[in-house]
Amino acid sequence: MILVTGANGLAGSAMIREFARQSYPVKALVRSRRSAQALEALTAVDLVEGDMLHPETLTNALSGVDRVLLISSPNQQMMETQCTFIDAAKKAGVRHIIKLSGVTTSLDSSFLFSRMHAEISRYLEQSGLGWTFLRPSQFMTEYLREVPTIVAERAFFLPFEEAKLAPVDLEDIAKAAFALLTQPEHEGKTYMMSGPEALNMTEIAEQISLATGSTVRYVNISPEERKQAQLTAGIPAYIVDALDMQSSLRREGNGEEVVHLETHTTLGIRPTPFAEFAHRHAADFLGTSAWGAAQNGQKHPLDLRTLPSA
Ligand SMILES: NC(=O)c1ccc[n+]([C@@H]2O[C@H](COP(=O)([O-])OP(=O)(O)OC[C@H]3O[C@@H](n4cnc5c(N)ncnc54)[C@H](OP(=O)(O)O)[C@@H]3O)[C@@H](O)[C@H]2O)c1
Repeated sequence: MILVTGANGLAGSAMIREFARQSYPVKALVRSRRSAQALEALTAVDLVEGDMLHPETLTNALSGVDRVLLISSPNQQMMETQCTFIDAAKKAGVRHIIKLSGVTTSLDSSFLFSRMHAEISRYLEQSGLGWTFLRPSQFMTEYLREVPTIVAERAFFLPFEEAKLAPVDLEDIAKAAFALLTQPEHEGKTYMMSGPEALNMTEIAEQISLATGSTVRYVNISPEERKQAQLTAGIPAYIVDALDMQSSLRREGNGEEVVHLETHTTLGIRPTPFAEFAHRHAADFLGTSAWGAAQNGQKHPLDLRTLPSA
């Protein structure tokens, strides 16, 4: 049996929808069943409650589980959450953990979450369990965070200057995770994964303009303006600082512009271009979907978990 953690989050719920599409049985770990009703309605999904920080709550979730896809929130507790979970999984007889992190995962990184992902990966490698690392680039859904100003002002505001990124579609990551979890030959391997093109923010704006038939502008802002907007939106200061560092690394060129299609090729997944993602979400970017309309005038950036299907 396979367990996906963080199943009610942005990435985790995409993974669970892929299992449902394939009618392949999966356990979905959530902290609260009440807030995960959309998952409960899916076929072949066994919703289980538990808190990864509290092993005593995981007995039912881990019972009969052989493989796990390890995901939790990028927050201050991420290391403790995932390392505690690894210990509990080992004790419960899990054999293999697939860990979702990112392309910039490195013990030397100045970006807090890249460093934490590397620490957790090292902990997993040393745990004696089988491991596989799935390391995607920026999710394309990150641009849905810009919907409030795209709807209100037909513009989005970031401090990335001319930096290029190669964002990847969560649907592609979900297909990759499904393959890594259901095929035996991926143990001990690392899978880097990006979208098919490196694009700067002006090019992203052009793609959204084409998809929506309405001009959207990219406006470069200073790092300080970005930080102020995030603090005003209620983002915790340590996350604002971490994102500020990430922006700085992106401006310098930190490897996120590199296109990695080797995982798509190995696993037989068609790489989704950004244009296709933008078309899929055209009504969100235009503010004509219920979700897009609700973002008009919202604070920025927003919690994407309100999106019906990212
Ligand atoms: N955004 C990107 O561009 C990007 C790119 C590459 C990699 N990543 C990585 O992708 C990962 C997932 O991100 P995401 O956006 O999907 O995060 P998310 O939406 O915050 O989802 C994380 C989920 O983990 C659950 N969780 C947190 N602590 C838990 C605990 N103690 N016990 C049980 N469940 C717990 C949360 O549960 P609740 O619903 O109860 O809060 C939430 O549903 C992160 O590690 C991030 O670093 C992100």
